[in-house]
Amino acid sequence: MTIMLNIDPRNPDKAKIAKAADIIRRGGIVVFPTETVYGIGANALNPKACRKIYAIKGRAADNPLIVHVSSMDMADAVAKIPDKYKKILKRIWPCPLTIVAKARDSVPKVVTGGLNTVSVRMPQNRVALRLIEESGVPIAAPSANISKRPSSTRASHAKKYFDGAVDAIIDAGSSRFGIESTIIDTDNFMLLRPGAFTSAQIEKEFGKKPRITEESLGLKYAQRPKSPGTKYAHYSPLTPLFLFDGDAKSLKRITSVFKGKFVFIGSSESCMELRKNAKKAISLGKKRGMREIAHNLFHSLILLDSLNADFAIIEGFPEHGMGLAIMNRLRKASGNRSFESEKELRILVGGHG
Ligand code: TXA
Ligand code: MG
Repeated sequence: MTIMLNIDPRNPDKAKIAKAADIIRRGGIVVFPTETVYGIGANALNPKACRKIYAIKGRAADNPLIVHVSSMDMADAVAKIPDKYKKILKRIWPCPLTIVAKARDSVPKVVTGGLNTVSVRMPQNRVALRLIEESGVPIAAPSANISKRPSSTRASHAKKYFDGAVDAIIDAGSSRFGIESTIIDTDNFMLLRPGAFTSAQIEKEFGKKPRITEESLGLKYAQRPKSPGTKYAHYSPLTPLFLFDGDAKSLKRITSVFKGKFVFIGSSESCMELRKNAKKAISLGKKRGMREIAHNLFHSLILLDSLNADFAIIEGFPEHGMGLAIMNRLRKASGNRSFESEKELRILVGGHG
C-alpha cells in the first residue's frame, strides 16, 4: 500500500517527515519533492533498497542514480570532490546543480550503475532536506517517472505512475523549476545534462564555461556516453510528439490541413494563433517567460496523454538560459522528430498518425 503524506513546504510537519524517514531507514521507497522534479528515493547505502527503484521504474541497470545529500559532510562521505570545487559548492549548494565525482567505496555499485563515479546533489527544497537529515543517510533518487516517460512535477503525476508500487508519496505542491538539475562532470568540466542551473550561472560561480557537446544538447545519442542516461529515449508522452523548429508565424498555415486532429503545446502567444486549428491548445506561458515554460513543461506532456489526440505539436524555444534545458527535453520527448514545413509534417504524420 502507498501512503500519501501531505506536507506544507513552508512548515514541514515533523511527524510526517519522521514517518517518511523511518520508511527510508527500513529500506523502503519514498517519492519526495525537490525544487526540480519529484524523486523516487531509497537509502543510497542500501543496495537492496536501491535495486527496488530500478525494478519499479523499469530502469536500465547501467543508468546510475543521483545521490541526494543534506550536508557537505554527507557529500564527502560518498564522493571525492576536488577541493577547488568543494569550496564553490559549499557556497552555492543547495541548488539544482549535480556534480559527478569519484565515488567512495561506501557507495554500492547498483547506485553508480557500475561506474567508478557517483553523482551528488543537495536539493534546494526544505521537505527534501529535512527528509534526508531525519533519515540520517544519503538518498538515491532518480526522477519519479516510469522509465522513458515525462518526469513528475506534482505528487499526482507520481501517484499515477507508482500508486501501490512505492511505500509513500509526499505531496508538497508543484516543483518550483519543473525541469531536472544540471549535471557537470568535475573531471573534464563537461555539461552532461543541461538543467535548472543555467550555463551562465555555472560560468559566474566557477569562473569558466562548461563544455557543451551535441549529446548535452540532446541532438545525438552516443553509444557509450559519459552520462549513461543520455543514450536512452526519455521524457516521451505516449501520444506521438513532433517538434516545430521553424518560424511560429507560419505554423497556422502549415497545420491547416490537420484541423482538429492534433494538440498544440506552446507559448500563450502561439496558442492564440493555433487555437482554431488544434483540437486543444495547451499554453506553457508567455514566450519570454522561460522559467514559467520550464515549470509547466512536464505537466503539459502528462496532460497530453489524457486528450486522445492523433498526434501533438510542440513549439521550439530559443536555446539560451533555461532554453538550453527546455530544448534538450523537447528533442528527447519528440524522439528528435522535428519539422519546419507542411511537407515535413505530412511525412511525420504519415508514419505515426
Ligand atoms: O533534478 C534532478 O536531478 C532529479 C531530482 C529527483 O533530483 N533527478 C534526476 O535523476 O533527474 P535521473 O535519474 O532522472 O537522472 C539522472 C541522470 C541520468 O541521466 C544518469 O545517467 C546521470 O544522471 N548520472 C547519474 N550518475 C552518473 C554518473 N556517475 N556519471 C554520469 N552520469 C550520471
Ligand atoms: Mg529522469
